[in-house]
Amino acid sequence: RQPVIAIDGPAGAGKSTVAKQVANQLGLHYLDTGAMYRAVTWLVLQSGIPLDDEPAVAELVANAEISMWHPEGQPSQISINGQNVTEAIRSQSVTSQVSAIAAQKEVRRLLVREQQRYGRTGGIVGEGRDLGTHVFPNAELKIYLTASVAERARRRQQDLINLGLGEMSLKQLEKDIAERDRLDSTRAIAPLRKATDAIEIQTDSLTIAQVVEQIVQLYQQ
Ligand code: C5P
Repeated sequence: RQPVIAIDGPAGAGKSTVAKQVANQLGLHYLDTGAMYRAVTWLVLQSGIPLDDEPAVAELVANAEISMWHPEGQPSQISINGQNVTEAIRSQSVTSQVSAIAAQKEVRRLLVREQQRYGRTGGIVGEGRDLGTHVFPNAELKIYLTASVAERARRRQQDLINLGLGEMSLKQLEKDIAERDRLDSTRAIAPLRKATDAIEIQTDSLTIAQVVEQIVQLYQQ
């Protein structure tokens, strides 16, 4: 059987960086489920379909093909319908609309099915909002990563600078993050929750290396 480490938590808690490094250290595959919701959101925005036209959105997503790959020493890449959207999915418009798309039942059903399929191809370290609660309820290890809104805004600001997407004010980022937390944790289907059997790590005063080490140790126990 293929081991699964499920890492959930709110926006900007450091899940991507941590999950990628844990996967590298343990020789497991990395699965960024947020990137999948972002890619389909990008596709919907491109298509001109109204975001709240759920049947049309569902049909678009059902026919979409997503691929993800991880070139060594480079950021993970994602394409949808053959278009590389690695950078486009980090844009402000996708970030501000993704929660509305991720709240749609059929979108979640389709993407969760893909995620579970991926989980059967080999051991994975996955990150998202509902992996421990819905996608991989039997995961070997469940982690819930958190950090204060202020700290998450600081990290997001640095990420955006590193991605060459410019500098956004901390105040605006805090507002955006708090709003995304609210939308993600109050939606009807698979809201953001700590699974009852998840281990919570509060990361405000921890380095990435320390968080990675804790998770690797928990897994090896
Ligand atoms: O992690 P990231 O910020 O890239 O996630 C983008 C959005 O995708 C989240 O704000 C949430 O709305 C959605 N998402 C989700 N379930 C997941 C992963 C992400 O609903 N497992």
